[in-house]
Amino acid sequence: GNGAAKAGKSRNILEKMEESDKNCVVFYGSQTGTAEDYASRIAKEGHSRFGLNCMVADLEDYDYDNLDQFPEDKLAVFVLATYGEGEPTDNAVEFYEFIGGDDVSFSEGASAEEKPLSKMKYVAFGLGNNTYEHYNSMVRDVDKYLTKLGATRLGAAGEGDDGAGTMEEDFLAWKEPMWTAVCEALNLEEREAVYEPVFEIKERTDLSAEDDTVYLGEPNRNHLEGSQKGPYNANNPFIAPIIESHELFNAADRNCLHMEIGIEGSNLSYTTGDHIAIWPTNAGKEVNRLLNILGLKDKRDTVIAVKGLDSTAKVPFPSPTTYEAAVRYHMEIGAAVSRQFASQLAQFAPNEDIKNEMAKLGSEKDYFHKQVTDRHLNLAQLLEITSKGEPWTKIPFSLMIEGLLKIQPRYYSISSSSLVQKNKISITAVVESSHKPGAPHVLKGVTTNYLLALKQKQHGDPNPDPNGLEYCITGPRNKYDGIHVPVHVRHSNFRLPSDPSKPIIMVGPGTGVAPFRGFIQERAAQAKAGQPVGKTVLFFGCRKKAEDFVYEKEWEEYKQALGDNFIMHTAFSRDGPKKVYVQHKLEENGEEVNKLLEQKAYFYVCGDAANMAREVNTLLGKVIAKYRNVDESRGEEIVKAMRASNQYQEDVWS
Ligand code: FAD
Ligand code: 2AM
Repeated sequence: GNGAAKAGKSRNILEKMEESDKNCVVFYGSQTGTAEDYASRIAKEGHSRFGLNCMVADLEDYDYDNLDQFPEDKLAVFVLATYGEGEPTDNAVEFYEFIGGDDVSFSEGASAEEKPLSKMKYVAFGLGNNTYEHYNSMVRDVDKYLTKLGATRLGAAGEGDDGAGTMEEDFLAWKEPMWTAVCEALNLEEREAVYEPVFEIKERTDLSAEDDTVYLGEPNRNHLEGSQKGPYNANNPFIAPIIESHELFNAADRNCLHMEIGIEGSNLSYTTGDHIAIWPTNAGKEVNRLLNILGLKDKRDTVIAVKGLDSTAKVPFPSPTTYEAAVRYHMEIGAAVSRQFASQLAQFAPNEDIKNEMAKLGSEKDYFHKQVTDRHLNLAQLLEITSKGEPWTKIPFSLMIEGLLKIQPRYYSISSSSLVQKNKISITAVVESSHKPGAPHVLKGVTTNYLLALKQKQHGDPNPDPNGLEYCITGPRNKYDGIHVPVHVRHSNFRLPSDPSKPIIMVGPGTGVAPFRGFIQERAAQAKAGQPVGKTVLFFGCRKKAEDFVYEKEWEEYKQALGDNFIMHTAFSRDGPKKVYVQHKLEENGEEVNKLLEQKAYFYVCGDAANMAREVNTLLGKVIAKYRNVDESRGEEIVKAMRASNQYQEDVWS
């Protein structure tokens, strides 16, 4: 968040480094917290192994026009995630525009030709996903711009690939040669690494969890005082009422929720095609597992005050709080564990044998993958299994805060139209529950299972906790009437044509249909109001008509409003002897699709990024080639050009 700006602190990074005696700044551009986590890890390692005095900096907290005075004997590190269609993360937009700007201007007034950054030494690591076209474009671009401005990169620019699932190993493989290059350039020597906590944790026996100054999950002071205040955003979620929630599937073992979230009076607004961010709460079962294995079972309600031991360390949640609230509301405890974290934990093992086992896991890549990654263990499960249940009481709580990501909101494509219901946001969310081969347990998604529990509660279901996950439904202090969730809205570029008479083609299997329900709801309302509405073609796919054909009745209503202008093609993959996917339907209807595209129809794809979206892209090239009588490479080029001109838009996730 823009903490520095808000607190009226200096936005001058050189001043900040000077006054806090730092010789290395690790800038991050992060959307979901992973880049921020890597940035902290680089900073910590730089200090413990090489004595570099590092600070971590959110790119949006500082100005950049004095980077031309960045001292020669200091180091700048850039850890940059690429978001969506090759975009910078929200917090890096300004930096990206500045550094790549046509007439980038620094305080000293030097022009780009004069190599204004010639004193700056930097290293760079990017986080990307190779299933997207603009793979790691953020780090590639920034690296190029910095070099052009005269800065010197130490080591290679690293690239981590989330698509291949190798992010962590890419990072670990990149950082060793990077450190060698840094040591050489800055004349540093490796020393024996000792753990130094980043945070001071004071147990406040003078306070009790009931005191109204103690945070029990409230995101900030206004919330604590019971009077939430806007503007609501990623730093200040709105605690929104769930107005309605119901099941969309008709299946014994799978759930999909339709929820209506109220934003009336919040000043939050959305446009059809936007995303809503939902802040989860961890399942009680996992909270207990972690507190127990850390030996904090009896101290769960103990009040703790958490403070950065250094002025640049940001405490990731409000304090004072309790161990339990910190874990339940603020830490991503269910996620996969990194090998580096495992290796760091070894020194705090309850005994030598456990320490050796943990050190082995930390140092042997293949062993770690077999024992931990392939089994999808979270941190508490790893600790439990390695120590056979013996509590790890020596781990400093600071290391938990440093090593675990801070909890992240999950995004959902809004499935309603802002024209039809501006004060109510719908989502269509499939409940994550996957049985991965090799995992000793079913993986239960944190947010969607929380939403499922909220729904059960709202409906007064006799079995409110079918999965035994023990979610805390009421939220901290049970301050709000009824069921609530913290949310904010994230604006997207996924947009209907401003002229409704333009034709549109939508491809959205599974929950990929979410934004298209919003699109069609909007066009149905426009048609009802007498506006001319163009052809509205939807390709939808699911497993079985009788099980997961979501909104089946509603499509009929839209058909009534839109008449022959609404055409829906369905692909039921598991109803017949052979799989039928949306691509097959696109191919079957290729002639019509091509004709609409020639009439400048917008083409939209939403849902699975890993396979479906790619295959649709490829197939469309073939369809175009076939019906325009050009070769397939030309077909591909036409699709590329459609993307570039926004005629082809994607809202995809993996
Ligand atoms: P999480 O707890 O985040 O788990 C998700 C997955 O992470 C698991 O299935 C597993 O594969 C992995 N994982 C978790 N823990 C571990 C572990 N210990 N080891 C290994 N792997 C692990 N979803 C919808 O249903 N509808 C939508 O409309 C929708 N729109 C989206 C739009 C955007 C722009 C994006 C980015 C995503 C969208 N999603 C949508 C997906 C959604 O944001 C969530 O990712 C999804 O609901 C799962 O969240 P969760 O908290 O339930 O699961
Ligand atoms: P399947 O699970 O039976 O293979 C929504 O998830 C629908 O998308 C399901 O019918 C699913 O089919 C289908 N699906 C799976 N992989 C796909 C792919 N690569 N392209 C298009 N649809 C796919």
